[in-house]
Amino acid sequence: MSVHKNQDVKKITTHQLQEMKNRGEKISMLTAYDYSMARIIDGAGIDVILVGDSASNVMAGNETTLPITLDQMIYHASSVVKAVRRALVVVDIPFGYYQGSSGEALRSSIRIMKESGGHAVKLEGGSEVKDSVLRILSAGVPVMGHLGLTPQSIYKFGTYTVRAREEQEANKLMEDALMLQECGCFALVLEKIPAELATRVARNLHIPVIGIGAGSGVDGQVLVMQDMLGITQEFKPRFLRRYADLNAVVSGAVKQYIRDIKDGGFPSADEQY
Ligand code: KIV
Repeated sequence: MSVHKNQDVKKITTHQLQEMKNRGEKISMLTAYDYSMARIIDGAGIDVILVGDSASNVMAGNETTLPITLDQMIYHASSVVKAVRRALVVVDIPFGYYQGSSGEALRSSIRIMKESGGHAVKLEGGSEVKDSVLRILSAGVPVMGHLGLTPQSIYKFGTYTVRAREEQEANKLMEDALMLQECGCFALVLEKIPAELATRVARNLHIPVIGIGAGSGVDGQVLVMQDMLGITQEFKPRFLRRYADLNAVVSGAVKQYIRDIKDGGFPSADEQY
């Protein structure tokens, strides 16, 4: 499927995602951080592109998502938006740009919307970010929530292990999910929690619930593009399915290119003026 062949591309909206949940159609979501890859995955028909703060890991080489700045997120998001014709583009508000106050959260969201052209923002957390969520929504900016393993809190958790296995944490997660829906979030990401809990959340909520490491009982799935394309090699969680081995493809192509240069095979007579 190449959605760009058709000139009248029907854009995905938050309302369409809701309709997809209502009729039981699963939502596809993938991260992207640059123009070229966003163009490919939008053309392939992905429903939602997340300009995730995982850019901090896979684009900038940081160990965690914490160091990435709002300016850097806006740079990535504006590159993605220029490529996209159909998908809904959701942009992560990075660590340190919404926790201080709801006013700060609103200012960060407005900068993202104005300067990148993204269509919605995502932030991590439950009751502790309620005021920020409400304030952002009051300005007409759609908000996606994110519960379960929230990588911006990695130093509080200590590990990237499965969250909400215990009843108390599972109950808090369910309460937070209902609260985010009540506030007006248009969708929710659940990361690395037991499939049974994720299924219960998706059934209890009327808004779409997108999972990553949260099993098949949710309304859609998201993966980090570099992981599912096999560009990253070291990251091998159980939930990750690799759809390609681009690391081997790119490395093989570059090795061939080097060989061709060294032995004079490139450029050929046909490849010069
Ligand atoms: O930043 C990111 O890529 C994310 C996904 C893992 C959901 O938040």
